[in-house]
Amino acid sequence: MTLNEIAKKICAKGKGILAADESTGTIAKRFKSINVENLEKNRLSFRQTLFNSSAMKDYIGGVILFDETIRQKTTLGLSIPELISKHGAVPGIKVDKGAKPLAGFIDETITEGLDGLRERLKEYYDLGARFTKWRAVYKISNKFPSAQSIKSNAHALARYAALVQEAKMVPIVEPEVLMDGSHNIDKCYQVTTAVLNECYNELEIYKVDLKGMVLKPNMIIPGSECEDKSSAEEIAKKTLDCLKKNVPSEVPGIAFLSGGQSEIESSKNLNEINKINDTNFLITFSYGRGLQASALKEFGKNQENLENIQKAFNHRAKMNGLSSKGRWSEELEKESAA
Ligand code: 13P
Repeated sequence: MTLNEIAKKICAKGKGILAADESTGTIAKRFKSINVENLEKNRLSFRQTLFNSSAMKDYIGGVILFDETIRQKTTLGLSIPELISKHGAVPGIKVDKGAKPLAGFIDETITEGLDGLRERLKEYYDLGARFTKWRAVYKISNKFPSAQSIKSNAHALARYAALVQEAKMVPIVEPEVLMDGSHNIDKCYQVTTAVLNECYNELEIYKVDLKGMVLKPNMIIPGSECEDKSSAEEIAKKTLDCLKKNVPSEVPGIAFLSGGQSEIESSKNLNEINKINDTNFLITFSYGRGLQASALKEFGKNQENLENIQKAFNHRAKMNGLSSKGRWSEELEKESAA
């Protein structure tokens, strides 16, 4: 498959991406919230339960894995990438090494992981990965993000993307402007514009083939502590406008992160965006919390009750699959949850 075909497959209409690539530290936080011990066997058990769900075939185009998971085997002996491929989805891998403090810039980060990346990519390809993810993080305040954090993260994202394409995989480029803070929706629009602009500048400089990449952005939403709440219609309008102005039209797929929105909010907002999508971009989800929160709760209640865990996951995957076509509704949400 060409890079463009892989990108279109993971973002295909009606499908999206399951971001199950929480690092051991991040999954520790998720497990703590449900009183589950952060052991390798528990991480495997939760993830393999999701990857065995019936929703995989119909609603999931790709799964982003963490380094530990891509090397694990299911209890039936299949490797995790084999299990994912068996359902017709594409295995992917998070390859960045996390956001580290940016020297000289208090409270800002630069994502690391370029050293040795070419060699690691070869190994991940051999393990079955066909796409990858790298996440840059930007916080909003009166002082930041600084021009330097925008520039250095865009540079790293571009060098990452070029290496990934050289290794014959599709890079997901994820510049995440965080929801944390009291900024309003227009500030989010303005910062996201600056971030996307710089990313596409650098991607062009490093000769990244835009037809063979996927963008994973934040939606344009007010900060979580902002008093002015926005309607889904306003979020959709401003998000689509920002993407149309700042993302080159050759990019085949745009898959949002959920970023701390609730499960329903992230489905509703994605749906509104697709209802007014008049571009050629395949616009879908690449959710972690937005797809897994309810399933995680069920796992916390009873780790052995695979049926309930899968029921919760199947429901969210189906709802987001509908949102990727602009066909989600609150009625369907209630009907099929019942
Ligand atoms: P959330 O959907 O929970 O924001 O996670 C997506 C992701 O992959 C963040 O890097």
